[in-house]
Amino acid sequence: MGKILLLLIIWLLILPVRAQRAKTVEDKMDWWREARFGMFIHWGPYSMLGGMYNGHRQRKGGAEWIMNRCKIPVAEYQSYAERMNPVKYDPESWVLLAKEAGMKYIIITAKHHDGFAMFKSNASKFNIVDFTPYKKDVLDELAKACRKHDMKLGFYYSHAQDWNNPGGSAARKVMEEGWLNPDSARIDQYTLDHQGHWDAAQQTRSMQQYIEEVAVPQVKELLSNYGEVAVIWWDTPVRMTDEFAEKFQKILDEYPQVITNGRLKRPNFPGDYRAPEQKIPDLSELDGRDWETCMTMNNSWGYKSYDQNWKNSEVLIRNLIDIASKGGNYLLNIGPTAEGEIPEQSIEGLRAIDRWMKVNGEAIYGTHRSPVGALPWGRCTRKDTDKGTILYLSVFEWPENGRLILKKDYKVGKATLLNGELDLKFRNSGEGIEIMLPEKAPDPIASVIKLELTNKLSLEQVIPDIKKSFDIVD
Ligand code: GLC
Repeated sequence: MGKILLLLIIWLLILPVRAQRAKTVEDKMDWWREARFGMFIHWGPYSMLGGMYNGHRQRKGGAEWIMNRCKIPVAEYQSYAERMNPVKYDPESWVLLAKEAGMKYIIITAKHHDGFAMFKSNASKFNIVDFTPYKKDVLDELAKACRKHDMKLGFYYSHAQDWNNPGGSAARKVMEEGWLNPDSARIDQYTLDHQGHWDAAQQTRSMQQYIEEVAVPQVKELLSNYGEVAVIWWDTPVRMTDEFAEKFQKILDEYPQVITNGRLKRPNFPGDYRAPEQKIPDLSELDGRDWETCMTMNNSWGYKSYDQNWKNSEVLIRNLIDIASKGGNYLLNIGPTAEGEIPEQSIEGLRAIDRWMKVNGEAIYGTHRSPVGALPWGRCTRKDTDKGTILYLSVFEWPENGRLILKKDYKVGKATLLNGELDLKFRNSGEGIEIMLPEKAPDPIASVIKLELTNKLSLEQVIPDIKKSFDIVD
């Protein structure tokens, strides 16, 4: 009896702590859900090669994969890395570029699969301070600029794959056709026999040692040396085990504000959100969890000198709207050159988003998934206020007859065009809400109409058919 009483007392004492913890976890997502838009930066020694190796154009994958794709020996790759000297790096201008485009957070590759740390590390000499003539910690400089301009900062960290620090894992890839092994479309025998590695130097330590001696200490360095870290962005859990994942999870427990994606280890370390890549999920694929689509502006994450397949401003802006209309975040990537320059086309794309956001940002920030799904003429985002629900209709296809129909019977109090705050006439017709528009679209990419409803929509009205399955690739 006494024992039960004691257990009850302990439980009662723990309860508020647990409740507090649950609350903290909820709270930590607040800024992230409000943000809706962030910048991804892929930057490292691979940027020096720009997708070219000995005159060979890397055919598959992002340029940050070149070491693996072309099976570059460790010593040779390091001879490139030791020349990395980003003298044109101007972190403040990067932060301002992101900020002006309306981005609320930055995630930078602290260490990609090549294993090169873009920060001073005591766990591996293969880092920008100890290994290069630049000698400065680029993350530290970025963290300072972010603090100055009130930008959240997160770190991408390749925790499992590491092709330079011995013991790190390596995804098995075909040796590029036409390079070294001209007629092979298969993974070569050495790579098959050595768990994805292609150089004996990668195997002088076990994965366990790598995790304990490099990855875990480096994650600790990242979390303790750069002020408050907003996000840790894991990637490709190749050969991750529960035991390894636990080690990272344990560090995270000390930093309850840190948000993580779901790539630490699948499926039992789901993190705080899902991270589909290069793909915007359909509404039917969403399961109510938070999500963020990361996407490149051309086809490569890391700088690729010859990749000119740039998304135009229409695609970029409409992607952002589409993602917000489904309740997700857009993490849009830039791949600076090894010297530290952002490709002109990326800057142009971001400036176009900037111009659109200045007028229409209200339709993105702090909005939630729309109750109406994809519309034939555009997308819709939603905000709930005490007075009632606001719907933002982003019109991609401006109706020729000047009448826009939203097939719903909501009670509308007011309709305005965000551009110039012009009041619009509307009526509830048999077809739904009919809004009278000016003849010409104010913005050929997306013009936003703000519809203020007289009441707050209920959850059932907002998410009528939430599905349990979520099979998008992340
Ligand atoms: C990947 C790739 C990679 C890139 C990333 C972004 O799966 O391995 O190079 O950093 O995901 O989502």
